[in-house]
Amino acid sequence: MHASETPGWDDDPQPHPAAGLSGGRRVLVTGGAGFIGSHLVKRLHALGHAVVVLDNMRRYCAPLTRVEHLALAERLGALRATCELVEGDAADPRVMAGVLETYRPTHVAHLAGVPLPAHANAHPAEAYDSMIRSTTTLLGALRQAAWVERLVFVSSTTVYGDFAAEPADEDHPLQPRDIYGGAKLASEVLVQSFARNFRLPCVIVRPSAVYGPGDINRRITQIFVEHALAGAPLVLHDPAARFDFTFVEDAAEGLVLALLHPGAPDGIFNITRGEGCSLLDLVGILRRWVPDLAIRAAPPSGLVPRRGALSINRARQAMGYAPAVSLEDGMARCLAAAVQSLAEAGLGRPAQFVRLQA
Ligand SMILES: NC(=O)c1ccc[n+]([C@@H]2O[C@H](COP(=O)([O-])OP(=O)(O)OC[C@H]3O[C@@H](n4cnc5c(N)ncnc54)[C@H](O)[C@@H]3O)[C@@H](O)[C@H]2O)c1
Repeated sequence: MHASETPGWDDDPQPHPAAGLSGGRRVLVTGGAGFIGSHLVKRLHALGHAVVVLDNMRRYCAPLTRVEHLALAERLGALRATCELVEGDAADPRVMAGVLETYRPTHVAHLAGVPLPAHANAHPAEAYDSMIRSTTTLLGALRQAAWVERLVFVSSTTVYGDFAAEPADEDHPLQPRDIYGGAKLASEVLVQSFARNFRLPCVIVRPSAVYGPGDINRRITQIFVEHALAGAPLVLHDPAARFDFTFVEDAAEGLVLALLHPGAPDGIFNITRGEGCSLLDLVGILRRWVPDLAIRAAPPSGLVPRRGALSINRARQAMGYAPAVSLEDGMARCLAAAVQSLAEAGLGRPAQFVRLQA
């Protein structure tokens, strides 16, 4: 189904076969113009659902490079072709109520908010507004939106803080170490309280270190790929720091399941690759394509929680979640996409290109 030309979708949705994931739903994605959200929209559209995005187009790493400008333009172009794109603040009650009334989504995925721990820590008031206030605004508005059947809140595995053991499952103690993790946990509690009180099926999803082509938030994988292609050394503050890197298409697939799978409601799910990898091992993966890649040690930041692999057994068993893209394949796709982007931006071929081709 395609979003209509006019505001709102006035045709009544038909009942949907309980077990199916395709066709006929109306999904609101807050933060849908972002990296993960845009992949979720793409997947929902491919499955035949109508999607509306509410996003205030906040960019966290300005100024954008030429390549990032092009990536953003491509992302927004794809969104405009596949969904209704409403520009507005998810923390504004009038905006949120207006979107829910106008589009009458059957399902809501809430991704809007500061996505970067460092930014949230440096700007706690913005983190509060965009992460917590957007959540309470949405929950308040949902009380008047009886047509919504399920809410998915996109939290983060930072709610666990330092991992006590690996793989960390969903019952791991919740001890976030910073404003970002704290705001995610606070939002989870608000969502769960609301779900209990108003009997709305709610699902909490905890992703980790999501990466892939097209991210413009300058996360570690994007920076590593850029440096590798520029022939610049990779700066390693915490080479032993381990993360459960998750390819963005797998994360989006997990969100689709959380939204639509009958086994999901009222659950909390780690949606990750399910494997830990140290930054040093990530360098090793990149060296398969860029063998001369140099590294430069830098003083430890002391800010990175002790992390690693997460258990995805619960998502696997409840809703058949099965991440498909290994870190090796995902990084190969990032490198190939970055080479293509540089060419499209008129920035030439990186010196490493020949080796990438080999
Ligand atoms: N990328 C990761 O590794 C990762 C890991 C765990 C959780 N998450 C969560 O996933 C979500 C999406 O992250 P992302 O990596 O796609 O980041 P992103 O910056 O690409 O997307 C976030 C989007 O939210 C929008 N937004 C922010 N505040 C808003 C507001 N008040 N109203 C409307 N829109 C608003 C931004 O404009 C942006 O388009 C975030 O909630 C983030 O915390 C991301």
